[in-house]
Amino acid sequence: MTGDGSLISNVSDTARWVAAYRAAESARPNALFHDPLADRLAGVRGRSMAAAAPRVMRNGWPVVTRTRLIDDLVMTAIREGCDRILNLAAGLDTRPYRLELPADFVWVEADLPKLTAEKDDALAAQTPHCALIRRGVDLADPVAREKFLDEALGSIGPAEASASKALVLTEGLLMYLDEHTVAGIAQALVRPEIAWWLADLTVGMKRTHSNTSMFVNAPLRFEPANGVAFFEDLGWHPLEIEHLLVNARKFGRAPWFLRLASYLPRPDPRKLGATPWSGVVRMRHHD
Ligand SMILES: C[S@@+](CC[C@H](N)C(=O)[O-])C[C@H]1O[C@@H](n2cnc3c(N)ncnc32)[C@H](O)[C@@H]1O
Repeated sequence: MTGDGSLISNVSDTARWVAAYRAAESARPNALFHDPLADRLAGVRGRSMAAAAPRVMRNGWPVVTRTRLIDDLVMTAIREGCDRILNLAAGLDTRPYRLELPADFVWVEADLPKLTAEKDDALAAQTPHCALIRRGVDLADPVAREKFLDEALGSIGPAEASASKALVLTEGLLMYLDEHTVAGIAQALVRPEIAWWLADLTVGMKRTHSNTSMFVNAPLRFEPANGVAFFEDLGWHPLEIEHLLVNARKFGRAPWFLRLASYLPRPDPRKLGATPWSGVVRMRHHD
């Protein structure tokens, strides 16, 4: 617990929370993915956060579903010639340690410096499957962000040349940023080295989050009423839009009280207003 009594003392603590759901999924006999490091990374605090989360998400279905969808979309991009992954706000994600990646593939992670230092320590004895580079950077700071992108997309690690078909992943990040910052990121990612942007988007959850004191130090900020059209207006064209609840039902992870809703006509992800919706979107820029 933090001084104000909330389990989450800052936005980086949310990384422990989502790791706890990946750990629980990994322990299932029919797990959708196996993340053997997640339990240790989540720790007691992560497990307490998962147990205290609002009922609508307490079984972890949104995180588990988005993890599996993103695993699949990352591997699809690699089959399509992706030559680098930049995971912005990677948190305690361990994909470089658990996905079947080419040994010389360059994967760059960024997160706030305190979190990356903790992760460096926690995973010091582990060997990633690919060339993994981790940087501490405040992605909301436009100057630091640009400097990071220049480095991460250039000849970094074993890569002798700049990336030419990179995929940028923002998973569980945008919702904690203000709209101006998200628009800044959308513009910063328009670069010739970047082929795709893979992001998750959550709308209509602010009330659920603000009803619990747990999220007082990590409030939801970005919930565009026009959903994926927010990105389209900035030139990003969605290639795939995956509705989390529908996929959760197909994966057998939707809680019983949401199963009926998963069969109802789906809201238009471009006209959401305050309708609860969450999904994963892979986008390509028009330029
Ligand atoms: C919910 S976690 C998601 C972590 C990871 N992507 C995952 O899905 O497991 C949110 C992450 O965003 C990071 N984050 C939030 N604001 C950030 C910022 N301005 N710069 C860098 N990272 C940030 C936090 O430190 C935290 O690790």
